[in-house]
Amino acid sequence: MDDSSISKLSDRVDFASKTILDWVEQDQPITVVSHLDADGLAAAGIIGSMLERLNVAFKVRIVKQLDEDSLKELSSEPISPIIFADVGSGQKDLIYSNLPEHSVVIIDHHQPLEYELERCVEVNPHLFGIDGSRSISSSGLSYLVAKSVDLNNVDLAPIAVVGALGDRQDSGKRHNLVDLNESIVKEAVEAGFLEVKFGLRLFGFESRPIVKSLEYTIDPLIPGLSGNYNACLKFLERIGITPVDEDGNLRRMSDLSSNELRSFMVNLVKYMLSKGIESKEAESIMGTIYIISHEPPTSPLRDAREFASLLNACGRLGVPSIGVAICMGRRGEVLDKAEKLTSRYRQTLLKYLDWLSRNLDKVRQTRFLQVIYGGDYVDDRIIGTLISIALSSRILSPKKVAVAFAVSPEGKVKVSARADKALARRGLNLGLAIRDAASQVEGVGGGHDVAAGAQIPLNSEEDFIEVLDKIIAEQLGSE
Ligand code: C5P
Repeated sequence: MDDSSISKLSDRVDFASKTILDWVEQDQPITVVSHLDADGLAAAGIIGSMLERLNVAFKVRIVKQLDEDSLKELSSEPISPIIFADVGSGQKDLIYSNLPEHSVVIIDHHQPLEYELERCVEVNPHLFGIDGSRSISSSGLSYLVAKSVDLNNVDLAPIAVVGALGDRQDSGKRHNLVDLNESIVKEAVEAGFLEVKFGLRLFGFESRPIVKSLEYTIDPLIPGLSGNYNACLKFLERIGITPVDEDGNLRRMSDLSSNELRSFMVNLVKYMLSKGIESKEAESIMGTIYIISHEPPTSPLRDAREFASLLNACGRLGVPSIGVAICMGRRGEVLDKAEKLTSRYRQTLLKYLDWLSRNLDKVRQTRFLQVIYGGDYVDDRIIGTLISIALSSRILSPKKVAVAFAVSPEGKVKVSARADKALARRGLNLGLAIRDAASQVEGVGGGHDVAAGAQIPLNSEEDFIEVLDKIIAEQLGSE
């Protein structure tokens, strides 16, 4: 990533902000279309806050996927300018054919279709040689646009950090954000909105009682402890840490002495090793933690990773508007609802992880793929997260690409694919492979080098697998 790439991206960001300000000047109501995952909701929240502060009328639509159906729905509404966030770059052809008269801004970090579209300003790092899967997410790009509109929007930086973490962009050696994300982190820290620490990457470790934080951690999955409160209590007692204080309150991280904290870290890593987790993975429980300074100490929004998980729960359990509202600063009842969704989301993921662990013998192996058939048992909005965790927790092998199918309520097949970064270093580009394979079976797909998705017709799964296996063989140079 050189200076000229950054300066070209920055020019494009300024062009997008000027376009949006022109729409505002002409008093045109704006439609924001974004994606249902944490990064998409964070992007929609940042853009929503920016437009709200500009006093312009706007509405937000959250889509599971930007496909012909969702675009047809948009085309039936009165024509207004549209900002696509976290979707759009891979669907420019569909936007072009379905919305021929709309002015459009696309703010997206997925691998784009090569041609540029008239009537459209596209802010995408890949267009300037910057890797959108690691350097910056769609919420980060939305933040850059918001800051170009008004420097006071710097207070939205923590939401961009939440989105990037939601998209697993913490790819630095210490599980830290890198490149352009790192610059956003720096700005947020300097402005007093964010604190960065090194510590245990347990769920809400700073904000929750330790036993709860251990129980709630499912990414990575800690076998025997994740989701099991009593086992977590026993584990703490066994390593000499009393989980409850003299007054009967559950103890928090801030209640532990430095010796207890050290013992906790060492024993947790030892425990993970004893469960057969590789040392690199076990040690990865330690890493960089991002704390949002102005959130109250016990808020689920204080730890940016926990915030991201709450957004994923809202989006993937069908109430994305709650997530967007929270990113726009709403609290109270919406936050209570989001907490309930987070708990349901965690239970659901644990159920699926258990199902997968018990059915590993049914995972179909091809030369380059391990294929999971979720049928209508696994929710099509959650299957991607399931295989992400299964791969990072090594329930699935890192040596092959994980591909999972789920049948969506719309009667199509949702495909999610994930791969270990080592395969990308050997030449794998899952986003391109999935896009190509999906189009060969009359589906649509795309994404990033190690995480991609698609929608394909029912009963085309086997053809899809055959084609995908061949494309991946070519990418890895081993026919
Ligand atoms: O849906 P899933 O979580 O498996 O998608 C993985 C990545 O691929 C996400 O970043 C998603 O936005 C992207 N994707 C895409 N085009 C699709 C489906 C998914 O770019 N048709």
